[in-house]
Amino acid sequence: MKQRGVLKMGSKLRIGIIGTGGIAHNHMRSYLQMEDVEIIGASDIIPGKARAFLDEFGLTTVPDFTDNDKLLALKPDGVSVCTYNTQHDVCAIAALKAGVNVLCEKPMSVTLDQAVAMSRAQVETGKILTIGFQPRYGANMRMIRDIIQSGALGHVYYIQTGGGRRRGIPGRTFVHKKYAGVGCLADIGCYGLDMALNSVGYRKPVTVSAYASDYFGKNPKYYRGEFDVDDFTCALVRFEDGLVLDFRMSWAMHMDTMGDTLFLGTEAGLKVKSPNPDVNWGGAWDGGVGDIYLYKDEVGKQVEIKIPKVEEDNKKNFFFLKCRDFCDAIISNGPSPIPWQQIIYNQAIIDGIIRSSAAKHEVDVVIPEI
Ligand SMILES: NC(=O)c1ccc[n+]([C@@H]2O[C@H](COP(=O)([O-])OP(=O)(O)OC[C@H]3O[C@@H](n4cnc5c(N)ncnc54)[C@H](O)[C@@H]3O)[C@@H](O)[C@H]2O)c1
Repeated sequence: MKQRGVLKMGSKLRIGIIGTGGIAHNHMRSYLQMEDVEIIGASDIIPGKARAFLDEFGLTTVPDFTDNDKLLALKPDGVSVCTYNTQHDVCAIAALKAGVNVLCEKPMSVTLDQAVAMSRAQVETGKILTIGFQPRYGANMRMIRDIIQSGALGHVYYIQTGGGRRRGIPGRTFVHKKYAGVGCLADIGCYGLDMALNSVGYRKPVTVSAYASDYFGKNPKYYRGEFDVDDFTCALVRFEDGLVLDFRMSWAMHMDTMGDTLFLGTEAGLKVKSPNPDVNWGGAWDGGVGDIYLYKDEVGKQVEIKIPKVEEDNKKNFFFLKCRDFCDAIISNGPSPIPWQQIIYNQAIIDGIIRSSAAKHEVDVVIPEI
């Protein structure tokens, strides 16, 4: 029988889902749109949760588990790891070591040590490990990356990014350290970092000086319930090649946005406006793209050019595209679409922000050999 990569003609890719909470629904909806994919099982540590999840999609005969090892014993071609952040490393490493390809939700992990262990497991097993940063799949994000990587800005020496939500504390497992590890930084901050750093090409961070606070999450006027993570963070990050990143992110603040995303280059500057700062959560650069402007000198004059946007930004499509890219990488034995070799830098910055804001001074970022 003919083979299409790892797939025999006519056979389907066998996918499992680990962690069946909120975001697992988006993974499931994406996979169910694919004719060459079959869901072979789902697991969740909460008894009955995976069963209810599968039943919700009419998959009443597909097995459910509370033990991930039992799902992995079915030898799926790939799994989506959709647990909360503090379990990403445990679940992704177990899957890789069982010979299973992994699409892990963002952020990669909580600490750099966890991300290093995940990366080493990928290297040892040779399986695919891709991290789910779906904003990259937007046509406008691709256009921003292409403009910058064309060299149109010259040497990019400074980036400001992140912005922030005026009100947008998500609640649920996101606000508990034991589940999420960190707050707005891990929830939406990792997007701002990826959107900016993927645009310029990931660089190695060397120092971080950061601040984090929780004034809104801890104030019953703005949030009711237990809350033990950050709701605001800002940081100055230096990179090995001299690039400087000024990063801000919030879930809640008395401001519409902490600013647009700015790329300063020696030949031109690029401004990406906050997507929609007049709505409470729209001032953050965490997925959507606002208006885009290029600043440069032409024939001795300073000009500002509005770059027409591609009218396609639909987050749900990005989600499908990230799951599809994972499946295509499995089929073609291909490289990881969003590999740890990039995201380890994103995670090293998050880890540096956690350490620096706790220590109240600048910290070095040291990424071990993988
Ligand atoms: N890409 C996106 O747009 C997007 C959006 C929201 C959330 N996320 C990410 O998805 C992840 C999950 O978020 P959520 O909102 O679905 O959280 P959630 O709390 O609703 O769901 C997580 C589920 O994982 C289960 N779980 C935890 N540890 C497990 C383990 N070891 N084995 C099996 N199951 C386990 C929990 O019981 C829970 O049901 C987070 O990392 C979050 O950052 C991504």
